[in-house]
Amino acid sequence: MSERTDQLVSQRGEMFYPPAAFAQKAHVSSMEQYRQMYRRSIEDPEGFWAEAAEGFFWSQKWSDVRRFNFKRSQGPIDVQWFAGGKTNVCYNCLDRHLATRADQPALIWEGNEPGEDQVLTYAQLHEQVCRFANVLRGLGVKKGDRVTIYLPMIVELAIAMLACARIGAIHSVVFGGFSAESLKDRIIDSQCRLLITSDGAFRGAKAVTLKLIADDALDSAAGEGWRVDKVVVARRVGEGKGVDCPMTAGRDLWWHELMEAAAPVCEAEWMDAEDPLFILYTSGSTGKPKGVLHTTGGYMVYTALTHRYVFDYHDGDVYWCTADIGWVTGHSYILYGPLLNGARSLMFEGVPTYPDSGRFWEVVDKWGVNIFYTAPTAIRAIMRMGDELVQKSDRGSLRLLGTVGEPINPEAWRWYNEVVGEGRCPIVDTWWQTETGGILITPLPGCTPTKPGSATLPFFGVEPALMDDEGKETSGNGVSGRLVIKAPWPGQLRTTYGNHERFETVYFSDFDGYYFTGDGARRDEDGYYWITGRVDDVINVSGHRMGTAEVESALVSHPAVAEAAVVGFPHEIKGQGIYAYVTLRLGHDYSDELARELIEHVRNQIGPIAAPDQIHWAPALPKTRSGKIMRRILRKMAAGETSFGDTSTLADPTVIGTLVEMKSK
Ligand code: WTA
Repeated sequence: MSERTDQLVSQRGEMFYPPAAFAQKAHVSSMEQYRQMYRRSIEDPEGFWAEAAEGFFWSQKWSDVRRFNFKRSQGPIDVQWFAGGKTNVCYNCLDRHLATRADQPALIWEGNEPGEDQVLTYAQLHEQVCRFANVLRGLGVKKGDRVTIYLPMIVELAIAMLACARIGAIHSVVFGGFSAESLKDRIIDSQCRLLITSDGAFRGAKAVTLKLIADDALDSAAGEGWRVDKVVVARRVGEGKGVDCPMTAGRDLWWHELMEAAAPVCEAEWMDAEDPLFILYTSGSTGKPKGVLHTTGGYMVYTALTHRYVFDYHDGDVYWCTADIGWVTGHSYILYGPLLNGARSLMFEGVPTYPDSGRFWEVVDKWGVNIFYTAPTAIRAIMRMGDELVQKSDRGSLRLLGTVGEPINPEAWRWYNEVVGEGRCPIVDTWWQTETGGILITPLPGCTPTKPGSATLPFFGVEPALMDDEGKETSGNGVSGRLVIKAPWPGQLRTTYGNHERFETVYFSDFDGYYFTGDGARRDEDGYYWITGRVDDVINVSGHRMGTAEVESALVSHPAVAEAAVVGFPHEIKGQGIYAYVTLRLGHDYSDELARELIEHVRNQIGPIAAPDQIHWAPALPKTRSGKIMRRILRKMAAGETSFGDTSTLADPTVIGTLVEMKSK
């Protein structure tokens, strides 16, 4: 084999094979090795995971690798990994590396403005985290207390999370794009007494406030009887950018002042393996977002192992995941997984389009990024701007590409492979969820032949299955169904915060003995999984989950709205867009102005990611005789289809004609 082809991804039939040179150096370099490791992980999970866990520091070893009940019919759902063990995730992310890599970069921070950056070595990050952990302790935060973090992508975010982990406080990070209302709900649900925020944030060319939003959230929380005692405010924007940052005496404290006064040494709290590590809110099909709870030992082992194998991480690699830490991808694969492996993890404050759409590749060249992990929506947005912005960069450092968040369309996959990776870099299309803690279905880049659009095969220890309409497991290949997982894996959620009943109902009641993902999937003739998308009322907008019920209740909270029904529709860049059918109260006019006002209203209620792309006036909604909205019809109409299937069960079939007419207006 010549040197060149040795370095290239090759294609045979519909399969793409990793470059031979890549495979040779990979942790898993043949399918035979994958199959053998996979078999062991399923046949002897306890042995497999104990071995994985041994790489970490435990102040006390576990007594049981795994205990669980996955069957609701046999009692409460309960999953425990490494029970009896004691450890600390922050200690394993930082202290454990100090002997060998104190002066190596841990976080490489790239600011919103090109040229603004900061590198924190393991020693420096360790010191900052210890100081902030002391700050938290000084403010009365104890093991088990919840701390809400509402910050942009600045190093203080990583420091605050690790400091919580160090002292055993449970962090609840709220994405900086969420509204005051959303922040308030999360503060109240998690019953937290301390909030960490910043004066503001830079987003592309703009500076926006965070503190005023946080103040609003705290005021309305107080109105509902929940008081937050202390607010720590990091200074990011400063004065002169039009971002106000009023400080409430006795409650609000500046981050930098507290840090100056804090001691740089802080003992880690030894946590039980099943003590909570964090809460992260995510949307479901009904009700308000739920607080997905992850615990210590299993999450630690799982994120580290997946990061190592899926990204074929080797010592010294520069690794970049472009997500925001406010989502699970950032928790597991910017912060915890990479730092647990002693990696150099790049944290990007900005947006892919500022100063122009070539920013990703400039950053790749600037830092010599080897492993790059992003979302299909970002790929599609950049792809649309043309190849030149990519081609003017070198990208010679790139070795591996990854995607996450939604199904990637084969066209974007091919562009990613050919233009971004120049046919040199395997692509890992990783399927997972906030609830799963880490990646569950994915290629391993040194061995798995890939097919554009398929997440391929399960990771070690993961047993997927597809359930048919009768609720039975399908067997063999070439089948479709609802995607479930048959047995526990260390990174999975343990409960939804404060409501175990909801956890059991949402994930374990559809199929007794199985974790139900909410996704549909197909297993092709080769046993490869193709995720077809959510089968529940969750929309995936730019890789972010949004519950239709949440958007509906935001719409209905507007005084002009009588009723709303929200569905997803295919969107070229976002994957899915938000399509809202709205019925107004008597006395209000169906006008473009009101449509704009409603979009703005949802934006203020939840955040910009929830803003409907389309308002469709609906003087009446298609309902069955029992009053149930027929979403199937609404989805078809939103997608631009003109035949709506069987409409005979509608209470009033003429509703359809009126709706079609309103659309064409
Ligand atoms: C979808 C993000 C297809 C899926 C880590 C899942 C995907 C939801 C993929 C979870 C993928 C995520 N291919 N679909 N590679 N990755 N999804 O909780 O519908 O924000 O249920 O976690 O995103 O979204 P979440």
